[in-house]
Amino acid sequence: MTKRNILLPILIFFLSLNGLRAGEGMWLPQLLQALNEGDMQTMGMKLTAEQIYSVNQGSLKDAIVHFGGFCTAEVISKEGLILTNHHCGFSAIQEHTTLEDNYLRDGFWATDKKDEKMNPDLFAKFIVRIDDVTDMILKGVKSKMTKEERQSVIDKNIQAAQKAANKESYQDVEIKPFFKGNQYFQFISVSYPDVRLVGAPPSSIGKFGADTDNWEWPRHTGDFSLFRIYSDANGLPAQPNAKNIPLKPKHSLPISLDGVEEGDFSMVFGFPGRTNEYLSASAVEQIMTVTDPARIAIRDKSLKIIDGYMRADEAIKIKYASKFASTANGWKKWIGEVQGLEKTNALGKKRAYEAEFNKRLKTSKKKFPKEYKTLISELDNVYAEMAPYALAANYQSEVTSRNVELLRVAGLMKRLTDAFDNNGAAGFNGFKGRLTGYLEGFYKDYSPMVDQDVFAALMEMYVTNLDAKYVSETVRKATMPHDNDYSKWAASMYKSTKFTDKAAVEKIFSMKPEAAVAAIKEDPAYQLIIDMQSHYNSVVAPTYDKLQTRVEDLMRVYMQAQMDVYTDKKFFPDANSTMRVTYGKIEGYEPRDAVIYKNKTYLDGMVAKYVPGDYEFDLPKKLLELEANKDYGVYSETVNGEQKVPVCFLGSNHTTGGNSGSPAIDASGNLIGLNFDRVWEGTMSDINYDRRICRNIMVDARYILFIIDKYAGAGSLIEEMELVHPKKGK
Ligand code: ARG
Ligand code: GLU
Repeated sequence: MTKRNILLPILIFFLSLNGLRAGEGMWLPQLLQALNEGDMQTMGMKLTAEQIYSVNQGSLKDAIVHFGGFCTAEVISKEGLILTNHHCGFSAIQEHTTLEDNYLRDGFWATDKKDEKMNPDLFAKFIVRIDDVTDMILKGVKSKMTKEERQSVIDKNIQAAQKAANKESYQDVEIKPFFKGNQYFQFISVSYPDVRLVGAPPSSIGKFGADTDNWEWPRHTGDFSLFRIYSDANGLPAQPNAKNIPLKPKHSLPISLDGVEEGDFSMVFGFPGRTNEYLSASAVEQIMTVTDPARIAIRDKSLKIIDGYMRADEAIKIKYASKFASTANGWKKWIGEVQGLEKTNALGKKRAYEAEFNKRLKTSKKKFPKEYKTLISELDNVYAEMAPYALAANYQSEVTSRNVELLRVAGLMKRLTDAFDNNGAAGFNGFKGRLTGYLEGFYKDYSPMVDQDVFAALMEMYVTNLDAKYVSETVRKATMPHDNDYSKWAASMYKSTKFTDKAAVEKIFSMKPEAAVAAIKEDPAYQLIIDMQSHYNSVVAPTYDKLQTRVEDLMRVYMQAQMDVYTDKKFFPDANSTMRVTYGKIEGYEPRDAVIYKNKTYLDGMVAKYVPGDYEFDLPKKLLELEANKDYGVYSETVNGEQKVPVCFLGSNHTTGGNSGSPAIDASGNLIGLNFDRVWEGTMSDINYDRRICRNIMVDARYILFIIDKYAGAGSLIEEMELVHPKKGK
């Protein structure tokens, strides 16, 4: 075969890969110049990489903040105003909500800065600079080292590097591993702890469609809220204090009034949390056939039970709304993930990729480390061995820490008695203090009746679906005195435990530590969790942890190997809550055969979904009036000769959890929208991005302005912002 003939199939393999993959990638902003600038400009971007990330002058990155460490927000005025999602600001909004001032229900707007509300737990973190410190951190690391030896050298190097970091006293330094520990980057940042609530729409706008619409397109959620960063008189971080002044930011994003169209360039800048794009086929198979299905099945059961009660009883509906939403959020995402992985043949693609990897090792003239040859087969073996342990581990955590609330509380009681056993009365009282606050909120939203049914159903699944050796004998035989009936066991358990009853727990907590500990240790729920935990810790955890450590070691080598072998491929590191840029286009997609989704939704479509009084699809009267009167201000666009207000739009930007609140930015650096979700068919982008069906969902910036201006009448906030017409050249 001539050289050309050998290369051709490889070339075709990569062309097809790249064609589908455009849009894929969560790139480090300081590396855009080297890796992405040309690509981005070809796609229509008019900026340079230096305008996105610069150490020396204000750039887009100076308008992006990590919001509380769990979401993203962006600066949109010269007075430190920031924009994030409603679901990111949710707990802050909830904190300030009372029965009289129900900001969750009615919204909140501070049109005067003195009405803005402080949030002691929030912070906004800017990234000052990102440096490659790989050489420093891996100095002295040898390939023969054990994992522990390696980690201890790295930890020492990190400490030394942090001490030596070139930074101001008010700045922070953080060093994180990338590419499975093959590279290290240092982040110099500055965090502002005075972040005040400025505005939030009512939940009927900010959470419109709630769980039914979550992860779905078409979408009509106005998922935004406004905050403001305050600094001391010198612009430096300061604890929340009335004397602080609005931050004068290095950069704030102008907001485009020109809207988006199919094919427009877009980028999303933010702090994505966690992805796994370089897994072996065996790992993906385990997710598809073992761990996701287990978690889905368990939550399926518990959600159905809770839903039944919520539909029948208004009080339970209120109590369980938020818990239901967060359990359902993961459940629905994993269902979409498995379907998406199947639909895009992720496994087949991974296997082809691995076969090609092994083939290149054999045929290449380059000398690769010997261990590369066995990587894939070793990963396959470890995952095969791990499967039953992974199943048991997922059952354990879903049942005991997530879905059965009694077992969660019993687990906390166990920590309380541990605190006593280890540190006596002082330890007990310390942990009791923290627990009391938690339980206060817990019992407010707790129904033992609901939980008892969940217990019965999930314990039955636990015993039935796990291999007998992973279930303790006590649990296996627990129903024997109850006619082998899980409901009867549950009834007896919930009747005799004290942990379902706030007053009974308070009574225990009022006793002297010794007596309280004795009472807790007598409780049947306590004895059950002790039994389940100790069986798990002796039979599952040791092997499971050992295998996971083995996977980590192999993945570090496999990651480097992929980069050594696939030199024709551009690699981006998995998300790890550090700052990233992702870019794509505004585009719709085809979710299934013969179904085409357009890229944008409008206010009239939202009104069409309106169900008066419904807890997901109700709408405020004022919004209905604005729509009826076509009172749109400058925030509408012409569609077939008619004026319409855009609400949400889609793009092929590669995002994940943590990108909530990230700005969608146009070709010239203006804000066009606010990221808040992905489409259901594409949630597998955390494992296998596929341009054909992976889309992120954004609120249109004009809808946000429309709500602030026309709905809330908070024109003073609009005046702070810089509104621009980039498409009209203004
Ligand atoms: N799916 C989005 C995310 O993962 C939104 C979640 C909040 N909304 C909800 N209905 N639970 O965070
Ligand atoms: N809603 C998610 C978040 O809170 C973003 C959606 C996603 O997972 O992409 O971060």
